[in-house]
Amino acid sequence: MFESKLANVMASEHSDATPTWNLACHHAKSFREGIGTRIQRPIQTYPESLAVFEEATPEHGTPPHDVISDLVQKAEPGLHAMTGPRFYGWVIGNSHEVGVAADWLTAAWGQNTGNHSATPAAAAAETVAAEWMLDLLGLPSESSVGFVTGCTMAHFVTLAAARGEVLARLGWNVEAEGLSGSPSIKVILGEEAHSTVYSALKYLGIGKKQVVQVAVDSNGAICQENFAKAISESTEDQAVIVVLQAGQLNTGTFDPLRPLINKARELKNCWIHVDGAFGLWARACPDRAYLADGIELADSWAVDGHKWLQTPYDCGYAIVRDAEAHRRAMTIAASYLPSAAEGERDPAHYVPELSRRARGFATWAMIKHLGRDGIAAMVSRHCQYARLLAELLVTERGVQVMNDVVLNQLAVRFGADQTQEYGDAITQKTIAEVQREGTCFAGGAKWRGVWIMRISVIGFSMTEADVRLSAEAIIRAYRKVSVE
Ligand SMILES: Cc1ncc(COP(=O)(O)O)c(C=O)c1O
Repeated sequence: MFESKLANVMASEHSDATPTWNLACHHAKSFREGIGTRIQRPIQTYPESLAVFEEATPEHGTPPHDVISDLVQKAEPGLHAMTGPRFYGWVIGNSHEVGVAADWLTAAWGQNTGNHSATPAAAAAETVAAEWMLDLLGLPSESSVGFVTGCTMAHFVTLAAARGEVLARLGWNVEAEGLSGSPSIKVILGEEAHSTVYSALKYLGIGKKQVVQVAVDSNGAICQENFAKAISESTEDQAVIVVLQAGQLNTGTFDPLRPLINKARELKNCWIHVDGAFGLWARACPDRAYLADGIELADSWAVDGHKWLQTPYDCGYAIVRDAEAHRRAMTIAASYLPSAAEGERDPAHYVPELSRRARGFATWAMIKHLGRDGIAAMVSRHCQYARLLAELLVTERGVQVMNDVVLNQLAVRFGADQTQEYGDAITQKTIAEVQREGTCFAGGAKWRGVWIMRISVIGFSMTEADVRLSAEAIIRAYRKVSVE
């Protein structure tokens, strides 16, 4: 009765939204179906895109269908083929269709996921997805998981828990007292730690001068001897946070986790955090898990869904062994918010935001779709493709893969048999030509003082044929710029 009355009111007062949903679905489908055959870069630059979007503030409304058509027309030329099969830029997953479909529903359901009684289903999906994550990644089952925007925020959340705990052990309650006058915290990390670790520390009031950088080896892994020295230089009563890495940005290399963690445990007041933005997924792959041996001994971990789990943007996970320390750092409480009962999990107690998207649905959907064996097979396949790509590229004279390809990342140097100056110039020219030609996409970086092409094999849709096509395109570009 109630429902049929409501349906009548709605039919008379609301226009039919079906064409808008269908239109969006149609455009999404055609974009994704064409992604493998289109040029693998935006065909419209930022200034061009800006010129297309720029118009005076709308004084009057526009019908839904026209808004969506206009958006597609304006946006598509400026979109990158990040969901395509030959995209190797940065470290970016494919936004798998199952995750996207779950995420569409998430948006359509419009759930504010701050509170478990406001949205029981979103909170429940997060709880279960969190349990699955811990199981897949082989992390302590008592850990708590916050669903955040990405690894940067995962660092922020986990390091906030770390800061609170190491100070609490010295009798300082940072949540009550703030940082002014607090004992100082020393941070020990590798000299190739990701820049977002520094960002998170900065947000937490921990400055660069509090950081001790430890030398790394030729693949970017922390040297044990230097680490031991940094640990031995810390005093007994000092608050120390150690940040280790599982998956270096350019090389995919892992710090020697077990020995480093064991060493750090000699300190009385030390919290060990691991940046595993993409590398933590090696734990879910039996033939790569050895790389992360001992990782479960740390105190916190940061990892992304929008990298190797292929969830759509944005999705990262802040994982903390000591759930109480996690909650102390993040809990948002107010009289108008229902409080969680014993054993219940409120999403907002593990992240910085109160109002936010229900990220658990896409995570739940991707794990359900791929399963343990599907995730393992995907990670293994990408690592094999990375090795194949390396083998194909080095058949060309002057091409050098600078890293040990242990995971999915390649650091490639062109003109490696010439002077450094020539090599830098030709590497940058090769990158520009690869991007211009558009068979595949890869970017560049300066690493260990020289320019490299960075290749990240992480897209779900990639096949061996794509790898071979990409190797040919990269070699073709290198040959072309070498004779210019
Ligand atoms: C090793 C590492 N840590 C942290 C990040 C930051 O992750 P996000 O961009 O999801 O915040 C990245 C991003 O590529 C990364 O590779």
